[in-house]
Amino acid sequence: MKKNKLNETETKQELDLTRLPKHIGIIIDGNGRWAKQRGLTRSMGHKAGFENVKKIFKAVYALGIKHLTIYCFSTENWNRPKEEVDYLMDTFRKMLKSNYFADLNFKPKLNVCGDPTRFAPDIQELIALRMEETKNNTDITLNLCMNYGGRSEIVYAVNAAIKDGVKEFDINTLNNYLYTKGQPDPDLIIRTSGEIRLSNFLLWQCAYAEFSFPKIYWPAFTEEDLKNCLINYQNRDRRFGSIKS
Ligand code: IPE
Ligand code: IPE
Ligand code: MG
Repeated sequence: MKKNKLNETETKQELDLTRLPKHIGIIIDGNGRWAKQRGLTRSMGHKAGFENVKKIFKAVYALGIKHLTIYCFSTENWNRPKEEVDYLMDTFRKMLKSNYFADLNFKPKLNVCGDPTRFAPDIQELIALRMEETKNNTDITLNLCMNYGGRSEIVYAVNAAIKDGVKEFDINTLNNYLYTKGQPDPDLIIRTSGEIRLSNFLLWQCAYAEFSFPKIYWPAFTEEDLKNCLINYQNRDRRFGSIKS
């Protein structure tokens, strides 16, 4: 057995299409380093990164997976230089203005997770519009985490529940107030670039997720790499606290 780029054991195994995750979360890390390696600006890294989001989104849909969550911008990413934040905001604006999704041969439901109120008014309007427009689509749900933080999400959920008069919580109560309400928890979280941390991504939802940390910068992450992550996922023994039957 040899080691692949993912630094995980590669097998000759084929992907089992009957045992795919229901929900994949991706932390799309490494845009900046990918660009630096090529003598490009960080913005060019983000450009390539968001083009790759679309490619991998199509591949996930083609596999029949119904939920994909992409970490696009964290609550901490506002600390980056203004020029970079502006470029990212413009990228989101363009994505939401639609041509980005225009050539898809399927109809995704778009769900923006995070606090939109810090975005420019036109971006806030576009978020509301796209979510409303696509709310009845059933092909696949694409959660875009923008100005998202796992801790903020939990605080938001608690406050929203209190506002509704909830006085006591159980796990399901909180689930129902998360940005991902009604969706299965992610079975697999992939973080590209080699960093082994969550950086505030889906803290509540990934209680029993499997993790994959391929050492590949996001813009260079291919469908083949996705497949390798999925094969490795299928080799995990998910016990959920129980023992092997
Ligand atoms: C992640 O890539 C993309 C976003 C935050 C939008 P980075 O920009 O963090 O790339 P690195 O980690 O600096 O290489
Ligand atoms: C996490 O990546 C956020 C996104 C991918 C949007 P970062 O690059 O911001 O995370 P850190 O700073 O390395 O933890
Ligand atoms: Mg990074």
